[in-house]
Amino acid sequence: MGLLEGRSAVVTGAAQGIGLAIARACVEEGASVVIGDVDAARVESAAMAEIPMGRAGEPEDVAGVAVFLAPDLSAYMTGAVLEVTGGRHI
Ligand SMILES: NC(=O)c1ccc[n+]([C@@H]2O[C@H](COP(=O)([O-])OP(=O)(O)OC[C@H]3O[C@@H](n4cnc5c(N)ncnc54)[C@H](O)[C@@H]3O)[C@@H](O)[C@H]2O)c1
Repeated sequence: MGLLEGRSAVVTGAAQGIGLAIARACVEEGASVVIGDVDAARVESAAMAEIPMGRAGEPEDVAGVAVFLAPDLSAYMTGAVLEVTGGRHI
């Protein structure tokens, strides 16, 4: 369990440099992190670089998981927490 499990952090100036390093360190310690920067395009690409699938999740991505869980094929599956994060926590 990380030092910041269950905590939230907002890091400004996080498109690069020290701010980005702080944001990454907070994530590694289990925090939910929101990043901001005056350079919107660069902060967007910094955020996307953290997602192995290279794109933000869409509502349809979560809807697909709900359908995956709905049929009887998953009836014996209980108590699982599913990550729908494009591989970010792998
Ligand atoms: N890198 C060093 O060795 C070092 C040492 C001592 C102090 N500092 C200071 O620490 C700070 C960060 O350094 P760095 O190397 O990460 O710089 P950096 O230039 O790599 O990153 C700074 C980030 O802050 C963003 N930014 C600028 N103004 C902003 C604002 N008003 N609101 C939100 N975001 C804003 C920039 O777009 C950029 O992405 C700077 O003030 C720097 O002077 C850096």
